[in-house]
Parts: sequence; structure tokens; C-alpha cells
Amino acid sequence: MRVPSRSVSSPLLVALLGLSGVAAGSAAAAPSPGAESAKDRIYPTIGNGGYDVQHYDLALDYRPAAKRLSGTATITARATQDLSRFTLDYAGPAVSAVTVDGRPAPVLRVRRTRKLRITPPVPITSGAPFVVAVTYAGRPRPTSTAGPDEGFIPTRRGAVVTSEPVGAKTWFPGNDVPFDKAAYTLRMTVPRGLDVVGNGVLRSKVPGATGTTFTWVEDQPLSTYLMTANVGRFRVSTSTGPGGIPIYDAVAPAAAEQTREEGGIAAQPDILAVFSKRFGAYPFTTSGSTVFDEPALGFALENQSRPTYSSAPDASTVAHELAHQWFGDAVTLRRWSDIWLNEGFATWAQWYYDAHRKYYFPTRANLRGVLRIEDRAFWNVAPAAPRSRAELFDGAVYFRGAATLEALRGRIGDARFTTLLRRWYAEHRAAPTTTRQFTALAEEVAGRDLTPFFRAWLYAHRKPAKRFR
Ligand code: ARG
Ligand code: ZN
Repeated sequence: MRVPSRSVSSPLLVALLGLSGVAAGSAAAAPSPGAESAKDRIYPTIGNGGYDVQHYDLALDYRPAAKRLSGTATITARATQDLSRFTLDYAGPAVSAVTVDGRPAPVLRVRRTRKLRITPPVPITSGAPFVVAVTYAGRPRPTSTAGPDEGFIPTRRGAVVTSEPVGAKTWFPGNDVPFDKAAYTLRMTVPRGLDVVGNGVLRSKVPGATGTTFTWVEDQPLSTYLMTANVGRFRVSTSTGPGGIPIYDAVAPAAAEQTREEGGIAAQPDILAVFSKRFGAYPFTTSGSTVFDEPALGFALENQSRPTYSSAPDASTVAHELAHQWFGDAVTLRRWSDIWLNEGFATWAQWYYDAHRKYYFPTRANLRGVLRIEDRAFWNVAPAAPRSRAELFDGAVYFRGAATLEALRGRIGDARFTTLLRRWYAEHRAAPTTTRQFTALAEEVAGRDLTPFFRAWLYAHRKPAKRFR
């Protein structure tokens, strides 16, 4: 989808290039290479300029016994400049062929920045759609840039696919930044008896000579890190959520009993109803989960429309991942350093759900709990200004981030706070967001300057002073 790109039409540039007064369109510069970075401060090598991805079609085959992933990724994009060449983020198995618009194209693998540099046989015209197909095969290797493994993680009998923040490139080539959202089709063949769980809707499940092919379609644009292709043996159940939303749950048999005991999956319809009422209508047309029996992996991820849990989740964890559907999946980051817009919001929503169902304390008690933390290292992390990958998913991003929202609720009142969350979701779904946009909207809704408040909560490397609590 379209990404706002920096304007290159400054008067100075125009003057320097001697283009002033030349009719638009007739001054076409020679095609040039697309940028090889989106200038993300935390991940300076991710992202690629000169195009905007519209659709990913991943036609893959996975053999768990050999841990071999093979197939073709077909990417439909639109050029945003005249392109002589361009790059894709990629850190997956060996590439055997690349075509652009059906014609073979030379490719260079740039290991240092984890890119494929592709030269189309003829330059691509700005505004034109084009199709890149990349064929690859081999053993995918997850990466680890911010703690746990990211990407395509082979397990004993399948694969856990959890790519936040930059692991999508370990299993398919693309523009691996959160803000270049695109529709997604997964066609994956696995040995008979195994299941594949993707995002969106299961279009078909077709038995063939080499296994079963699952086709999953997510036509609501999503970020690459939210795409999944979980493989395993699952018990599948389908049900209906509020407003008739279809819910598709795939639970590993070994996790089935604990899934019932924890109750998180059964709570999905209630959680969706509570959040739809509080934040605005659920953003997608389907929901559900994949639940593995891989407790050692110890994570949950908010894959769009269908979160993944490494083991049976409780209702509070499910509330967190479903809250991300509004905040993180529908409302999208422009850059990773604003991650508190995802994690602080999902954690606050988790507090809200817990309180709402009276399973736990009122949200205010959670703020007091956070303020009781005396650990200097905790308060040294500023939620909206992480200094490294290690700080991206620090506890402070989650808990101080959520405490920021709760303190804000106390300051501006529950009615204005509710309006703020609803407007943040309704008005910022369309384009990638930043912390500044959120604080500006908060000031607009509050009708007053909140600079010192946000400085203390989001940017200072110490506990906020009493007057901000
Ligand atoms: N977004 C996930 C959550 O719901 C956490 C992902 C953690 N990833 C990481 N690399 N630490 O909290
Ligand atoms: Zn989260």
C-alpha cells in the first residue's frame, strides 16, 4: 500500500537540477536505483524505496522432516519512481531464480544488509505496477534481533512462524517494514496429516500427490511481521463471534486440555465484544488463534486476524493479543522506536479487560503497581525513545507504556480518554503513525498542552515526578 515518501521537490533541488519552469513529465530524469533503506533508527538496513507493495502471493512447500522450505514468492508492487533497480529484504534459503514481469532478472544477494538487489531487464516506469517472482529452497533459519527467535522456526513436527520485528525476511522476500502493508495469499503444501494456519480465511484445503495444499487469503492489508504460516498437527474448531465474525481456532492436541483450563481461547468472543464497544468495531472480518504446545518458546504474537500462542493462553494474554488487532495491526507503526504505541496500548487494554471482567484489579491499581517499582534499570528505559533493539520489548515499553495511558486517563478524565482511544483508532488506521501524532491528538482532545506530562512519562530516563502521576 502507499507509503508517504519524503518530498523531493524542494525549490533548492529544482533550482540545482535546472528543472525550474520545465513542464511536469517532460523532465524525466534517468531511471535510478530505489533506496536500500527506510531509515529506521533501530533497524537502519530494513526497507526499500522506489516501490510500494500491493500483494504477496507465497506458494510454498514445507517438509518438516527435512526442515526444507521451497517455493515461489510473487510480489505485486507499484513503482513510485522510475526504477533502474530495486531491493527486497531477504534472509531466507538459497534463491534459484528471479523474474520481473515474467522475464528473468539478474539478482545479487547482499548478505551484509540482508537484501536481494534486482535489476529488471527494462527500467520500471514510475506509477507502473510490476510483478517480481523469487524462487527459493532450503532450510530457513530464524533470526534473533530483539530477544527470542523471529521468523520461520522449525519444530519437531512443523513450524512456528512468528516474525516480529524483522523475521519475515527469513522465510520470504519483501519490503520488511511495518508500514508497507499489502494483501496476502498463502498456498502451502505440507505432508498429509499436517495443517497450515495462515491469516484471514481458509479458501481451500486440497489433497494431492505430495501432500495437502492449504490456501489462506487475507485481503485486508497487513504488515510483513504479522503474516504467518504455522504448520503442525492441530484440532481445528470454528465458531462465531460478536456480529457474526467467523472464528477459526487451531489447537495442538497436547495443548487441548490446558487450553480448556486456561479459558483464554473460549473468552475470544467476549474479549472482541468488550473491545469493539470500547475502541470501535473490530477491524477485520475473521478472527481466531493457533495454539502450539511449545512452552519453551514462551511467546504470543498478534498475527493479523489470528494470533499465535506458543502454549495455552489465559484470557488476559488473549486480551493483549486481540487488543493489538486495533493497536498494532489496524493502526500501524511508521518506525520500530514507536513500539510503545503497540505494547503500551495492548497492555493497558489487557488491564482494562481484566478489570472489566473483575478477574483482577481496576486499571488504576495497575498504575499504582507500576509506580511502586523501584528498580532504576526499569525507569531508565523511556517507552517512546528506546535506544537499542534490546530496549524495544523491554518491560518498561509494556508497563510504563500502559501506565502512561492510565495516568493520562486520570489527568484528562475517562470520557475524554475514551474519545481519544476511539479517535486514535478511527482516524489513524489509514496511514502509519508516530508518537507525535498520538500526543498531538491527546492535546487536541484534552484541549490543553500536555508536553511536560508526556516528556515525563514517555521520554525521561527516570520515574515521573509526583505531579504527573
Ligand atoms: N508483540 C508481542 C506481544 O504481544 C511480543 C513480541 C516479542 N518479540 C520480541 N522480539 N521480543 O507482546
Ligand atoms: Zn504485545
